[in-house]
Amino acid sequence: MTVNNIDRDAIAHGKITEKPLRDRVGIPTWVLKLTMAITGLIFAGFVVFHMVGNLKVFLPQYEDGSRPIDEYGHWLQEDILYPLLPHGVMLWVTRIVLLAAIIFHIYGAAELTKRSRQSRGKFRRTNLVGGFNSFTTSTMLLTGIILLAFIIFHILDLTVGVAPAASSSFEHGEVYANMIASFSRWPVTIFYIIAMVVLFLHLSHGIFLAVSDLGITGKRTRAFLLALSYLVPAIVMIGNIAIPLSIALGLVQ
Ligand code: HEM
Repeated sequence: MTVNNIDRDAIAHGKITEKPLRDRVGIPTWVLKLTMAITGLIFAGFVVFHMVGNLKVFLPQYEDGSRPIDEYGHWLQEDILYPLLPHGVMLWVTRIVLLAAIIFHIYGAAELTKRSRQSRGKFRRTNLVGGFNSFTTSTMLLTGIILLAFIIFHILDLTVGVAPAASSSFEHGEVYANMIASFSRWPVTIFYIIAMVVLFLHLSHGIFLAVSDLGITGKRTRAFLLALSYLVPAIVMIGNIAIPLSIALGLVQ
């Protein structure tokens, strides 16, 4: 941004510059914003799907003693889109898509934060709007970093099975037993609950931003999507918290 209106006093105090504040950028800002919106929505879709699947932990045992959540875990690992694709292929496609989405999302966040700081120069944003929306806006970076830490811990805990993130009794494929063992540890359950509140804050504001960045301007559509941007994350938060909390309280054994 170049300031055309030359205010000598402000320039003298280093608040306004006549020179461009940054060099011409490689990737246009709108491409970064669009990338963040699309990759964020991929993750939002995943967490909804993931929560619905995980709620199977509440379903009763089959007569042969096996568990619906273990059957579902097996389907996830081996059988998504089988026999269209060979066993296990879709799992790796999903993993690669999620990994690429998270890398692009983090790169976009870092680059956009850098650009907005540079463009703002010595000016600091003041709390013009105020309220909850302003709070979630200013904490997007922090909540994003907490979520990244959660995802790393979570994969070590319930997918890879590396202690001390995972419980000492972790066994591959035993989804139900692994969840019970992990969430019987109160510090882990509390960490998951905090992470799910953070996920709500990040996701609700993220969906709201994505709606704007995807150029959705219709008044009614925006109002509907805004309501959805609170409703969907709230359902995900409540559904996800119910799992570790019920286990830690001994309601699911
Ligand atoms: C309390 C809430 C959650 C529970 C109980 C839960 C449970 C699980 C379980 C049991 C697995 C292992 C599945 C298997 O091995 O078949 C898993 C994997 C995973 N979860 Fe979660 N999850 C929760 C929340 C989340 C959230 C919020 C995210 C993302 C932000 C997430 C991302 C993942 C990922 C990326 C994997 C690895 C999938 C793979 O590559 O195999 N989970 N989760």
